[in-house]
Amino acid sequence: MTSNMPCSSLAPRIVVYGIGKYGQYIVRFAHQKGWPIVAVYNRAGEKIGKDAGDLAGLAAPLGIAVQDCDTASYDKLEADIAIVATTDRIAVNFPAYQRLFCAGLNVICHGGEAYFPQGADPELAQRIDDLAKQHGVTFTGTGIWDISRTWIAMLMTGNCTEIKSLFHRSVTNSEGFDKATVLGTGTGMDVATFVEKISKPLGVYGHLYKLVPHHVMTALGYTVTSCTERREPVLADHPVWCQMLNRELAPGTCIGTRTVIEVTTCEGATATAHMEVRPLFHEGEVEHMFWSVEGMPSSSITIERKDSPHATAASMFNRIPDVIAAPPGIQLVSKLGIMRHSALIGGAP
Ligand SMILES: NC(=O)c1ccc[n+]([C@@H]2O[C@H](COP(=O)([O-])OP(=O)(O)OC[C@H]3O[C@@H](n4cnc5c(N)ncnc54)[C@H](OP(=O)(O)O)[C@@H]3O)[C@@H](O)[C@H]2O)c1
Repeated sequence: MTSNMPCSSLAPRIVVYGIGKYGQYIVRFAHQKGWPIVAVYNRAGEKIGKDAGDLAGLAAPLGIAVQDCDTASYDKLEADIAIVATTDRIAVNFPAYQRLFCAGLNVICHGGEAYFPQGADPELAQRIDDLAKQHGVTFTGTGIWDISRTWIAMLMTGNCTEIKSLFHRSVTNSEGFDKATVLGTGTGMDVATFVEKISKPLGVYGHLYKLVPHHVMTALGYTVTSCTERREPVLADHPVWCQMLNRELAPGTCIGTRTVIEVTTCEGATATAHMEVRPLFHEGEVEHMFWSVEGMPSSSITIERKDSPHATAASMFNRIPDVIAAPPGIQLVSKLGIMRHSALIGGAP
């Protein structure tokens, strides 16, 4: 079940849980569109007690002080939905889901695992689903993968009468990410260090990207029998200056991570994905996502994108009406219908 975007008289009341970069985007979008922010939570630290509008860079305070998520009350929240923009791991975020579900709120989560909790951790996904249903609310993970990785693949295969294989390749620019996340791509490491610190442990990106082809093949009706991932270094082939590390990286040094994923299915169709995240783009290079299908018919599509932070935050924001209208429990974006813009709501940007 999906809704049309609401008119302003039905403006959804929003809670933001995690007022970092993307939580602040939500505050700005809500302010622009006239959708009320009713409460903002964050973990303990310097943001607590500050005005959410000030943190988000609005021209005037919102009159909503950031509350400590561990000590605040959630009892009298008059809200429709909460946006959780804290971490990528559903196990870490679970206390937030519990608090918000118990307060009767639908939840949109920006964490990478939240797109497809069943693929990330089936047992925890079941708990999230049960708890959301018990409280009559919906849980959806969304962000930039909604359109550019999930729906694009579903649309591209929509006119196929046979599917042999899918291939996905992407190059994501991590330049605007925080330093820990950029270092989590292995940038600046030699190959041996990369293997020890990035390939072997889960790290920042481990097992996130494999959820994309796993989700897509599941959404296309296939039964996935295996989904493997390996993380390999992207190596510089000429000397490159790395602003964040403030040094030149010699040829052979790691300038990012390539995650290689292979999916097999009961029905025989396969999916392969090569997903690169790196901060060092060549002159003129643009972040892009490529999908191809081998089948009847075969086809391919490439999306090029210039403002990914806006795109991922806006994906959460534009999904709000769909998630409020959806049935209780975990609802994957692949089940919500294609996302619609919010350009006709509220004032001009
Ligand atoms: N779905 C997607 O496609 C997609 C795309 C991009 C990013 N993401 C993910 O979105 C998440 C948010 O990104 P961001 O750039 O906004 O990060 P950020 O700027 O670090 O903001 C995270 C905010 O959440 C707070 N926080 C962290 N852990 C918390 C916890 N356990 N409980 C309560 N508050 C907590 C942080 O508090 P402090 O002030 O104390 O740090 C900070 O205010 C990240 O996991 C990121 O990887 C997802």
